[in-house]
Amino acid sequence: MSADDLSPVSITGKLKTRFIGQRVIYYPRLASTMDTARQEARQGAAGGTVIIAGEQTEGRGRMKRTWLSPRGNIALSIILYPEVSFLPYLIMIASLAVVHSIEAVTDLKPQIKWPNDILISGKKVCGILTESDVKGGRAACAIIGIGINVSLGLPDVAEISATATSLNDESGSKVSRVDVVRHVLTEVERLYLTLPDGEPVYEQWRDRLITLGKKVCVASGSDMLEGMAESVDRSGALILRHADGSSTRIVAGDVTLSDK
Ligand code: BTN
Repeated sequence: MSADDLSPVSITGKLKTRFIGQRVIYYPRLASTMDTARQEARQGAAGGTVIIAGEQTEGRGRMKRTWLSPRGNIALSIILYPEVSFLPYLIMIASLAVVHSIEAVTDLKPQIKWPNDILISGKKVCGILTESDVKGGRAACAIIGIGINVSLGLPDVAEISATATSLNDESGSKVSRVDVVRHVLTEVERLYLTLPDGEPVYEQWRDRLITLGKKVCVASGSDMLEGMAESVDRSGALILRHADGSSTRIVAGDVTLSDK
């Protein structure tokens, strides 16, 4: 078994989790792990089931953007059936799990840019997408999608090379994808099991955000807002303080730091 083998047995073999990753379904090539995870959830897949793709042909990101995930990287989705009150914490849990895992497997120092971009040296190394089906006030299912750039080869990704980076490029060595995946699944479970008390997760996520206290521009829908990123609330929304003293609560948007 190679250090880069993402087969279910190589992931679950040494995994010490109660439920997350105890069932892994691997596809060499898939449109998007989000869609397959949702289909699996609708067919009753167990909570904690993980869908992993060797490559995605229609990977998607936040705000209906495309997520490039050629071979050599990590693209996975985790199926959960949480209480509705847990939903705001899933993004925080996933972001923390990824930074803790990168720190455990490499010497790199990842940072979180609100809401859930993981950066190294100012460039994006991981994107996180959460989607949920809520019916009658209950979450029918929630899917956490995690895309980690481990080995980005030009020209596959020429269009994002100015803003994206990879674990191999940043560390100068070949990072084991299976190690990263195992750590991520273990950390997601550890943090998830701290709920329903979301306070520690919220505080750790807030304290790791590089966005707070900085002057930022936020693209939110068709609006472009400027101000000081003052705080985040427990639902994960960003509180932006404007020059005139007023504030805006932003639920979804793209932040550009004005003063790095
Ligand atoms: C973003 O930063 O915009 C979020 C990117 C999320 C990408 C991951 S890769 C695994 C899962 N499958 C997808 O199609 N998207 C997510």
